[in-house]
Amino acid sequence: MNKYGIGLIGCGTVGSGLIRNLAKANPLLRERLDIHLEIVAAAVKDITKVRDGLPVKPIADWRKVIADPAVQIVVELVGGVDDSFQIAQTCLKAGKPLVTANKALLAERGHELIAQAHQSNAPIYFEASVAGGIPVIKVLREGLVANQLLGLHGIINGTSNYILTRMAEAGSDFATALQQAKDLGYAEADDRLDVDGIDAAHKAAILCLLAYGFLPKFSEVPVEGIRKISSQDVSFAAQLGYTIKLLALVRPHGSDQVEVRVAPTLLPNRHPMASVHGAFNAIGLLGNLSGPVQLTGRGAGPDATSSALLADLAEAAKNLRDKSPGPQIPQPDGKLRLLQKGESVGRFYVRLEVEDRPGVLALVAGIFGSEKIGISSVLQPEGHGAGSVPLVFLLEAASESSLEKAVAQITKLPNSRSPAHILRVEDLS
Ligand code: NDP
Ligand code: HSE
Repeated sequence: MNKYGIGLIGCGTVGSGLIRNLAKANPLLRERLDIHLEIVAAAVKDITKVRDGLPVKPIADWRKVIADPAVQIVVELVGGVDDSFQIAQTCLKAGKPLVTANKALLAERGHELIAQAHQSNAPIYFEASVAGGIPVIKVLREGLVANQLLGLHGIINGTSNYILTRMAEAGSDFATALQQAKDLGYAEADDRLDVDGIDAAHKAAILCLLAYGFLPKFSEVPVEGIRKISSQDVSFAAQLGYTIKLLALVRPHGSDQVEVRVAPTLLPNRHPMASVHGAFNAIGLLGNLSGPVQLTGRGAGPDATSSALLADLAEAAKNLRDKSPGPQIPQPDGKLRLLQKGESVGRFYVRLEVEDRPGVLALVAGIFGSEKIGISSVLQPEGHGAGSVPLVFLLEAASESSLEKAVAQITKLPNSRSPAHILRVEDLS
């Protein structure tokens, strides 16, 4: 039997899940791959905390873990982009395979790490960084390797999907649903990354790298989170036959541009992604040969994430055993650029609060018309009182810049009572 020494750096929510699940997985890995994984060194911040099931005494100095000759594979589960970058770089420089669940690190400092991995001939395994238990990295790297990707989209933040589901189905308020997601181990240590869409954008950037060999400059990726979604929007969307999801989109435009974005989006109820609930994720991929592929599964939580980490550890061990260099991440070639904000065309949901008097609807519709934006549905519920009324529009496809111009004019109307709430609409057909 082949034994492999693991150096575990970080034993928090995900790390402790890995410790627990490694014990369960080892008999299977032995039977299926003749491999046994053993944690031989570990580092944490607070060495006084009790760590259930950890077979070694943790230390505070992660450098000693990486340098330990018994450590053949390093697992980084620290999170963030500062210490984790130092850890990843030191590991790769030492020529040891790195397994990480850290999407922020790859999306924000991937260029440097990919270069280091190439220079040191050390592989980076990152299945756990996107969509928890769904093996989408393997699907892109292996299953769809012969396809040109015509686009991909997904619900790739479990916490946001959990919150939106609780708001839509149980009438929960935002704060209660977020606390539940934290208690269940779905949320990031800094939950703003989840609710502000940043975590989903990190994952979208990684998927973009695998699909198109292009890692966008992260600060330029347009990102909107779910904070602005009110129960009113959830209910109006339902009346129009739609469900609101935090959707990530990656799609090529011509031969030199890629659109990467994350935004709360109305999906038609008939689309399978509209029924992806709770902390589940879903990813739709369109290959030129495969046609549409949709993957669904648990997108967050220590168990689902352990599944991906253990698959990476098994692959890393197998590659060490077989003296294979392991997977190389494509080095971005600089030919592509990110579609800039304002350049994209899409459908939109616009909720206004306007003075309740004859002629206002016609005025607003006229402004959309003057910007050549078609209206596909209008909703104006009765009985909201206090002299104002919500006015909800589902619009036909328009450029972001035309929409912005129309909304600026509407906001200036004396009948306008609050800023417009704008959400994207995708049919995903
Ligand atoms: P936690 O904050 O729960 O755990 C972080 C761990 O790192 C802790 O054990 C902490 O020590 C340790 N640590 C922090 N700084 C250092 C340091 N300088 N040296 C050594 N150890 C250090 O994070 P999570 O477990 O929630 O997340 C880990 C990673 O997994 C993140 O990148 C996250 O994005 C990713 N991830 C999370 C998923 C989820 O479902 N929650 C799913 C997929 C990926 P101490 O315990 O002493 O504080
Ligand atoms: N916080 C992340 C989420 C964990 O909720 O999706 C999984 O990457």
